Amino acid sequence: MESFEQLCRERRSIRKFTDRSVEKEKIDYILRCALMSPAGKRLNPWEFYVMQDAEKIHSLAACKTYGSGMMSTASAAIVVALDTQVSDTWMCDGSIAAEHIMLAATEQGLGSCWCHVYEREDSERLVKEQAGIPDNLTVLCVIALGYKDEERKPYDPEKLLYNKVHEA
Ligand SMILES: Cc1cc2nc3c(=O)[nH]c(=O)nc-3n(C[C@H](O)[C@H](O)[C@H](O)COP(=O)(O)O)c2cc1C
Repeated sequence: MESFEQLCRERRSIRKFTDRSVEKEKIDYILRCALMSPAGKRLNPWEFYVMQDAEKIHSLAACKTYGSGMMSTASAAIVVALDTQVSDTWMCDGSIAAEHIMLAATEQGLGSCWCHVYEREDSERLVKEQAGIPDNLTVLCVIALGYKDEERKPYDPEKLLYNKVHEA
């Protein structure tokens, strides 16, 4: 990747994956990047649950009515779970870690997509059951990972929402 901007351009949500499995080295690389996420007061309230069993991952497609279909083809997934008692910035910390995961995946030539779990129907119950996550943790999201089976155009710098930027 020639620059961080290029990486940001190419990270798009991918919701269809081939059945090629993700190499252990790539998962390890992504996890190292997740573990370097900044966190409020460096309290690190996150726990990452790595799923590589296709059957378990695909079962997560049923975790909610809409927006979980990408799990039906993902060949790996990382659940971002947090101990909400550890830090009041837990949701920010988990979100940053999730973005590290997605950017690292993009850099490794993989597709990724955030599947939101927190306060979405009863989705947390199924995710916890399939990933073996203890009750004291809260699941923020599952990041679906795999080799892309769809093409998404990178962001076009000419078309960014510059009206969101204000002189202050
Ligand atoms: C907090 C958050 C929750 C999201 N939840 C879902 C989801 O449950 N299902 C889904 O398909 N995509 C989900 N997405 C992906 C967004 O739909 C996607 O990032 C957005 O449409 C922009 O597209 P892009 O990722 O290709 O740039 C989520 C993204 C974020 C940041």
